[in-house]
Amino acid sequence: MSTNVRTPLMAANWKMHLSVAEAVSFIAKLHEIVGTPQDREVLIAPPFTHLWPLREAMTAAGFSLSAQNCHWERQGAFTGEVSLTMIQETGCRYVIVGHSERRHIFGESDAWIGLKTAAALVHGVVPIVCIGEKIEEREAGLTEEVLRRQLTAGVEGVSLQDPNRLVIAYEPVWAIGTGKTATPQQAQEAHAFVRQWLAKRFDKAVANGVRILYGGSVKPDNVDDLMAQPDIDGALVGGASLQVTSFARIVQFTRSVKNG
Ligand code: PGA
Repeated sequence: MSTNVRTPLMAANWKMHLSVAEAVSFIAKLHEIVGTPQDREVLIAPPFTHLWPLREAMTAAGFSLSAQNCHWERQGAFTGEVSLTMIQETGCRYVIVGHSERRHIFGESDAWIGLKTAAALVHGVVPIVCIGEKIEEREAGLTEEVLRRQLTAGVEGVSLQDPNRLVIAYEPVWAIGTGKTATPQQAQEAHAFVRQWLAKRFDKAVANGVRILYGGSVKPDNVDDLMAQPDIDGALVGGASLQVTSFARIVQFTRSVKNG
């Protein structure tokens, strides 16, 4: 178990949803409801085309902007790709790397995810590295093996002194968009495993400082129980982040029994 020194990070992954106009009014409304929280960080990852138009409103609200993906090269003949220099130019502090939809629908390899993580760190953009097992892997007792493999490929090679420069998101594939959430205990076990891995790879201070988010059917009615777990430092929310009242409630989680 680890000490709770980490600022909770409540992140909306909008995937391929919402128009720019809808996004602008979402942010205004969210700010109206939650204000600019001092004890937690609010992050939105909209589609690429929305980053620039949202930049000012996000800064004014004190929310953090994130891209959903990136390419690791600075520039070049990579049709359809967006570099970290470009992402940084839009005011993004974060980039999601290795989301399971990127891995499983678009065939991204562990090795690519490692390249993206390393490139994000070089550019000073904080990578949110997503990892998580499929249902058949969990049922075969392979969860830790899968997480170890994905962590090794995604993070092993980077150098990291400041834990605020890396975020890990544990997103069991079977819980994404399915309405099946991992139980708080299942999620806690996986998070504790990730933190131990970080302690071995880096050191205890880094491991205690890196935020580990849970993702997979996070909703207003399960966020409090998830956030009560000592190693869950935030949420990466898909479906429930598309309705402003629902995401606002998630941002306003209350953490009753954080015992770390
Ligand atoms: P979900 O998606 O909340 O709709 O399960 C989470 C994610 O894909 O990051």
